[in-house]
Amino acid sequence: MLKTKIAVFVSGGGTNLQALIDAQKAGTLKSGEITLVLASNDTAYALTRAEQNQIPSVVVKRKEFATQLEYEEQLKAVLTEHNIDLIILAGFMSILSENFTAAYPKRIINIHPSLIPSFCGKGYYGLKVHEAALAYGVKVTGATVHYVNEIPDGGEILLQKAVAVEEGDTPEILQRRVMEQAEWILLPQAAEMVSQQLQKG
Ligand code: GAR
Repeated sequence: MLKTKIAVFVSGGGTNLQALIDAQKAGTLKSGEITLVLASNDTAYALTRAEQNQIPSVVVKRKEFATQLEYEEQLKAVLTEHNIDLIILAGFMSILSENFTAAYPKRIINIHPSLIPSFCGKGYYGLKVHEAALAYGVKVTGATVHYVNEIPDGGEILLQKAVAVEEGDTPEILQRRVMEQAEWILLPQAAEMVSQQLQKG
């Protein structure tokens, strides 16, 4: 069986990318292989992680294209060039329209740092999600891995894990706990699940 070729889309620190790389090294991610890291900017530390692990990377910046359509056509061209089967959004902060998502049905997954449908959709990303959870006063939050479609954070849910909010939490403390107790566990699990489904004989 050929391994599913995975592209990981990143914008920042890339700790979720690191969790995927670690799972690949440990053999728990075995049906798929990360063959490309695509970053939305050239300062993302995730690019250093890719380099340290000999994974090819490419930077595609939205602002270098006149329209969203041209940007997404470039993303598609890169994916085709690398024969990518599965796209994993791991802290990818650039918006993808239906023109892009519809081209890869059930072939794009995303990790979101809350229990969808809470604190998700437009404007909820990164630390903002945890700020909103603390402002609301929820006692339980968590992370969700879902398929990506044209609705922001609206695709079918694959995996979820709850994480307790604790007295005195700051957005940063909560973010770290959600990553450690949920995101870095769920994302590699989902990557293996979907890679297995997409594997070609
Ligand atoms: C993660 O918490 C991820 O769930 C979140 O951004 C962070 C990226 O961290 N993604 C979103 O908010 C998407 N809406 P990382 O670069 O260290 O993986």
